[in-house]
Amino acid sequence: MDYIQAEKLLREHGQEHVLRFYNELSPEQQKSLLDQIASIDWRIFNVLTASDVMAGRGKFEPLGALTVEEIEKKKPEYEKAGIEALSAQKVGAVLLAGGQGTRLGFDKPKGMLNVGINKTLYLFEAHIKWLLHIKDICGSFVPLYIMTSDINNKDTVAFFEEHGYFGYDKSYVRFFVQEMTPAVDYNGKIYMSEKGKIALSPNGNGGWFRSMLKAGLVDEMKEKGIEYLTAFSVDNVLQKINDPAFVGATILSGADIGAKVVRKADEREKVGVLCLEDGKPSIVEYYEMTDEMAERRDENGRLAYDFGVILNYMFKLNKLIELAGKDMPLHIVKKKIPYIDRNGNKISPEEPNGYKFETLILDMVHLMDSCLSYEVVREKEFAPIKNRTGVDSLDTARELMKLNGMDF
Ligand code: UTP
Repeated sequence: MDYIQAEKLLREHGQEHVLRFYNELSPEQQKSLLDQIASIDWRIFNVLTASDVMAGRGKFEPLGALTVEEIEKKKPEYEKAGIEALSAQKVGAVLLAGGQGTRLGFDKPKGMLNVGINKTLYLFEAHIKWLLHIKDICGSFVPLYIMTSDINNKDTVAFFEEHGYFGYDKSYVRFFVQEMTPAVDYNGKIYMSEKGKIALSPNGNGGWFRSMLKAGLVDEMKEKGIEYLTAFSVDNVLQKINDPAFVGATILSGADIGAKVVRKADEREKVGVLCLEDGKPSIVEYYEMTDEMAERRDENGRLAYDFGVILNYMFKLNKLIELAGKDMPLHIVKKKIPYIDRNGNKISPEEPNGYKFETLILDMVHLMDSCLSYEVVREKEFAPIKNRTGVDSLDTARELMKLNGMDF
């Protein structure tokens, strides 16, 4: 794309300011900026004008879960099936670590956060420790795929190298990088992060499988005999990845996907709820719920929409391959976006100042025909670190770590 074409394209979309500093750039920077403009997916701007978040959604119905009590009764059977699959290395794990952690405001990859008090315990390290525990039980390493973004890939890889992969066999670890999309202000104008750089943000945690395909990892997985992939977030320090009972129960259920869920703390808890939408598994976000849905009770007086997801899923690899080409909804998310103003000054906002566009892993659930909803005990498995203080913060996570007798 040359300058004239870029200018025309930007004018059509009301984004001429992207070239404001063009004449101050070196020829390399100019070329790079034109390349960035050429790769913008302009469809993202369509969602800015879509006002009704529930538009296009189907009919929701509650979906129960395999409860903790039911799981307890069948645990030996589930664990046996899980250990068999894990020993045969049929289950890979995908660590979603490409996010920016803007709410936490930590300037390094979130996995580098030290959650320890008496000793050092990084989030990445906590996950590896758990996977080493699984290796001890099953006798095999879990193939681990770590998704990063352009923003944190270098730091993440260097961190693992520097710490010797925390004792994990590095030949079982692969990193891959997710895609980026432009971030915009509240009027839909693209932010610039530098004079020659569009402010780009990672495109959400829903594109991970496509990024794996792009990175050539899927062929490699098939060759290795991997049949299932679990995917989980980096920021839940109690995350039990590939625990044999969950793996076994999902396999034995024959469902396309298994999803760990917890009972909601209250009607208005800000979690996505696993339910049925037009008869297919789906997740309804807390902000999409009507009062009627949020408050509805079943015959036992429990919330009808009671099971919130905790970003710990297990997918059939074949199903992921089959559905990889399907369109996924694009969400607009308010975020703090560092940018340069019209005079070229760098601004780091304290509060959200614009939108990012993301596809979300929770929308992958609706692509599946069947889902095992698998209840876990919140206090044992859900300690996400999202905020600096208050709800879902390092403080609340540490409380839960204490409760679980973790030495940290
Ligand atoms: P969150 O939705 O909490 O986003 O991610 P975040 O970027 O970590 O934090 P905020 O919203 O900016 O404060 C849930 C999980 O999905 C991953 C995160 O790394 C985390 O493990 N994620 C999120 C990605 O891998 N890529 C993304 O683009 C977004």
